[in-house]
Amino acid sequence: MTLPAKKVFIRTYGCQMNVYDSSRMADDLAPLGYATTENPEDADMVILNTCHIREKAAEKVFSDLGRLRPLKAEKDLIIAVAGCVAQAEGAEIMARAPFVDIVVGPQAYHRLPQMIGEVNAKRRIIDTEFPVESKFDLLPAPRQEGPAAFLSVQEGCDKFCTFCVVPYTRGAEYSRPVAAVLKEARGLVAGGARELTLLGQNVNAYHGATDNGASGLGALIRELAKIDGLARIRYMTSHPRDMDAALIEAHRDVPQLMPFLHLPVQAGSDRILKAMNRGHTRADYLRTVETLRKHRPDLALSSDFIVGFPGETDADFQDTMALAEEVNYAQCFTFKYSARPGTPASTMGDQVPEDVASERLTRLQALIARQQRAFNAASVGCTFDVLLTGTGRNPGQLVGKSPYLQAVHVVADPSLIGRIVPVHITNLETNSLGGVIPGTEAQVAHQ
Ligand code: 5AD
Ligand code: SF4
Repeated sequence: MTLPAKKVFIRTYGCQMNVYDSSRMADDLAPLGYATTENPEDADMVILNTCHIREKAAEKVFSDLGRLRPLKAEKDLIIAVAGCVAQAEGAEIMARAPFVDIVVGPQAYHRLPQMIGEVNAKRRIIDTEFPVESKFDLLPAPRQEGPAAFLSVQEGCDKFCTFCVVPYTRGAEYSRPVAAVLKEARGLVAGGARELTLLGQNVNAYHGATDNGASGLGALIRELAKIDGLARIRYMTSHPRDMDAALIEAHRDVPQLMPFLHLPVQAGSDRILKAMNRGHTRADYLRTVETLRKHRPDLALSSDFIVGFPGETDADFQDTMALAEEVNYAQCFTFKYSARPGTPASTMGDQVPEDVASERLTRLQALIARQQRAFNAASVGCTFDVLLTGTGRNPGQLVGKSPYLQAVHVVADPSLIGRIVPVHITNLETNSLGGVIPGTEAQVAHQ
């Protein structure tokens, strides 16, 4: 029996966890005959996989839903809202947007096929449970597309930073068993992946079950490094509190572990770190960075920062600027504090005025941009191993990733996609580096 060809359009907001979840939703719907489309007008089903982390991200969902409404009037279209806004505001979505058929939280999307059956029987579904069964045990094996793949190993968070919705929307920390992670990793590598990024909201809190106890992330990375053909391992997002000795030593000992680490600090003032409930001081963070760099001298770092947290004074903000100066990041994500309903920080007194927060954000962004430019400029003249992942914008050009997660453009034959090649970095482009593969300079000159 052949199933009718159908199309699903999935829009992903927010973090890499959502990117991963979106691709798993596509895997889940494929047996029902759904192929993905880039165009909502062509779709029989639209899924908005939403993010609740900041106010702007959540508001965008309602405006995108408003735009989908006329499409639904024209044809038979299933509209689903997934992800963290679905989890946190499911009932409100159902009430405000009566044309939404399905509201599904991040832990329940393995049930999408049944939900579609329900919708076909003219019922609206809301499922924001944290089911006892794990979706990972029930989803089909992921289909591997491209040489760089994501693998979710951990979900949820028990840290309860006072500004953050994640512990409420994604639930308690959960680690997938080591055997399940290794099986998925082997499958991805057999399908052509050369690089795996291990994902989790608190990925370095990983404590997956083994036959004899639990394994931390450092031990998991050592196991993954034994997989033939897996050339690169990354992980994100980490919490400074969970950078244990075994993980730091893996940075020294495992050549496949890439020398780039996203280690968010959020703020540089001890007073603010305490109010954020981060569970570490400025000195703890700096010590961890120092130890990491001792073990892996070429390690490059990135961070997330929040400015304008309630009670942040000019002196606190100066501490953040000074910390950023001291660490010297390769890149960073910077955010203005956004009060999220239900979080402790949202009801703290002393909220920072918008214009003060904006001014601080501009200053921090200028510093980070300067550091990022300097880091990229220092790459010119170096030769990096680059994993070629696809075609670039210009004809004859391929794009790839350096060990430090920089985009690199190079003129090369498309047969090299999926290979790791040495690239001599020759120039800086706006958001990437340009280079040549040594030995091919003459060909490039003739292009
Ligand atoms: N306001 C601003 N930024 C936030 N983040 C998380 N919650 C908030 C909030 N309420 C940022 C943090 C986190 C990143 C994913 O988003 O920096 O590390
Ligand atoms: Fe949110 Fe803090 Fe957990 Fe990260 S560690 S997901 S910022 S609560």
